[in-house]
Amino acid sequence: MTTTIPPVSKICCIGAGYVGGPTMAMIAHKCPHIDVKVVDINADRIAQWNSDRLPIYEPGLDEIVQSSRGKNLTFTTEIDQAIRAADMVFISVNTPTKTFGVGAGRAANLEFVEKCARRIAEVSEGHKIVVEKSTLPVRTAEAVKRILSNTANNASFDVLSNPEFLAEGTAIEDLLEPDRVLIGGERPESIEALVEIYANWVPRARLLTTNLWSSELSKLTANAFLAQRVSSINAISALCEATGADVDEVAAAIGTDSRIGPKFLKSSVGFGGSCFQKDILNLVYLCQYFGLPEVADYWEQVVRMNDYQKERFVTRMVRTMFNTVSDKKIGIWGFAFKKDTNDTRESASIYVCRDLLLEKARLCIYDPQVSEHQILNDLEYVFTEGDNKISEAKRELIEQHVTFASSAQEASSDSHAIAVLTEWDEFADANFDAIYASMKKPAFVFDGRNRLKDLDLKAKGFEYHGIGF
Ligand code: UDX
Ligand code: ADP
Repeated sequence: MTTTIPPVSKICCIGAGYVGGPTMAMIAHKCPHIDVKVVDINADRIAQWNSDRLPIYEPGLDEIVQSSRGKNLTFTTEIDQAIRAADMVFISVNTPTKTFGVGAGRAANLEFVEKCARRIAEVSEGHKIVVEKSTLPVRTAEAVKRILSNTANNASFDVLSNPEFLAEGTAIEDLLEPDRVLIGGERPESIEALVEIYANWVPRARLLTTNLWSSELSKLTANAFLAQRVSSINAISALCEATGADVDEVAAAIGTDSRIGPKFLKSSVGFGGSCFQKDILNLVYLCQYFGLPEVADYWEQVVRMNDYQKERFVTRMVRTMFNTVSDKKIGIWGFAFKKDTNDTRESASIYVCRDLLLEKARLCIYDPQVSEHQILNDLEYVFTEGDNKISEAKRELIEQHVTFASSAQEASSDSHAIAVLTEWDEFADANFDAIYASMKKPAFVFDGRNRLKDLDLKAKGFEYHGIGF
């Protein structure tokens, strides 16, 4: 390959989701000289990106989108034109865990990535740099390269891996000031082309370049390490509850050790989100594939501990409420997998609600950003069986036992208990005197985030239970 690479002036990003949307908005905002087109097969999603109500809730995102949309940032469904015109194409589509066939429940479903690669191969002309942005199993770049080598128009490609490390809820801060940007590739000129883009706002010392496989593996490893910290402190929370220690005190104590550090030690009802579980399961699958069962078991335990934490939360609720929650109204505070996002993927709330419904509790759900439609979709999905269908009995269970409220206070009115499942800031500002007055007694609060721990709800009459004390 001898082609020289001119500076990038046109970018196409395939996939207008939680990763593609904010990342491209930031690139457009910081690089007014680059034309950025974000494309998606989902026309509704594109229409929302072009409206005043963006499809994802993310603090600071509206301003960044508004600063560039209609100038150098476009959201469109005209995928082929955008690919054809671009010098650099980002693949930022979803890679969910496979639900069928070989590797079901573990391996990543690369169907969408493969479709993108085939589309790029089919419509491209000249030279393009293809950037993997989606979280992918190690060595996916190899597969992408092979697909791209079967091109219709003699086009040529370089493949880069540029994993995203932004966390939802703080995506804009993370994009503005990333700890590092990782760029893996083979050809130095292509790597440099992407480095040049980020160098518009990220100090060069934070732009790390590696080989393709290291970059892909670093993303899985970073998420596995972060999730492992949460599972580790959650494991200790169970021991704290049994012994009278306080997990927040233990976390603060160990976090002051500079070798451990204070972050990601907040015990909770369990981690969620689109990445942690998926990436660990992916790692587990890879280890098994490469004949490393001990390594696979080691990492799988992080996910098992997370499942245990969610189950433990429901068991504690049921035991505390005199061994039955059947026909009792429970106010569910929060459905998103963390605060400041409307994303519910793998949210602990889904599993806690499922298990409470199986106990025949009546749930009244409130989340400031998640739509009723999304919550119902998630609950129906979690009850689907082997054939990916929900039984009539389960559908009735949801219909007869789930209602929605437009405030935390309304969700709790006349209830036996409150379950705090997302740490939204507004929950701490609720009118607890009025809430207490409207609840059945004893008025139980089960705080899966320890968000209300400092409010001394016991003094207001509540029976308050948090995590890990
Ligand atoms: C994560 C990674 O942080 C990010 O770098 C990667 O690109 C994508 O995956 P995200 O899933 O958006 O980001 O959120 P994160 O803040 O990591 O939280 C994940 C889950 O862990 C949430 O459910 C959160 O509530 C939980 N968590 C996090 C805890 O329970 N305790 C903690 O101390 C930290
Ligand atoms: P992530 O969190 O990784 O960004 P999302 O599910 O939020 O995941 O976004 C992925 C987006 O990719 C979705 O909007 C989906 O419609 C889009 N997508 C999936 N496959 C394709 C494809 N072949 N062409 C264009 N867009 C696609």
